[in-house]
Amino acid sequence: MRVLLGIAVMALACADVNPVWGYEPVVNYQLHCMGCHLADGSGQPGRVPSIRRTLVRFSQSAEGRGYVVRVPGVAQSPLSNQDTATLLNWMARNLSDLKLPAGFTDYCAAEIQSLRAHPLVTVKTLRARLLRTPLAPPIAQPLAPPRAH
Ligand code: HEC
Repeated sequence: MRVLLGIAVMALACADVNPVWGYEPVVNYQLHCMGCHLADGSGQPGRVPSIRRTLVRFSQSAEGRGYVVRVPGVAQSPLSNQDTATLLNWMARNLSDLKLPAGFTDYCAAEIQSLRAHPLVTVKTLRARLLRTPLAPPIAQPLAPPRAH
């Protein structure tokens, strides 16, 4: 009984242990994000930032996660909380020059739900502050040299 209760509580806290999505995350990326962020996440100079060195990095802090989920393109997408969590976890593994640190905390539906309810107003200021924060040791080593734009 106690075990069952424990499982039920865990399921409530982070309900995407067995993710169920309408489309595969790669398809959701193509449909909702790729138009701006491009197929490899490298963005468009001067208009859309590359997420290849920021998503994993920002995901390492509470403030950074708040930024990632609350940027307009994420917070206001038509994707469900579950699909958004699954998509960000897929992006962190597939569109990043930074190695996923051991113990990386995946996004889950409950986190997306609570964060996206408070859209960002100071997008640029917060982004600049996050970029000034030094890289945490597990992700200090990029996998590949920066892409030239
Ligand atoms: C209309 C263009 C557009 C679309 C569509 C879009 N984004 Fe973005 N995204 C941006 C811009 C511009 C920024 C920089 C922050 C800002 O000004 O909103 C950004 C920032 C981000 C960031 C933070 C990275 C950083 O370095 O600041 C993430 C993560 C992100 N977007 C993910 C997504 C995801 C996931 C989707 C699809 C569900 C998406 N975006 C759709 C334009 C877009």
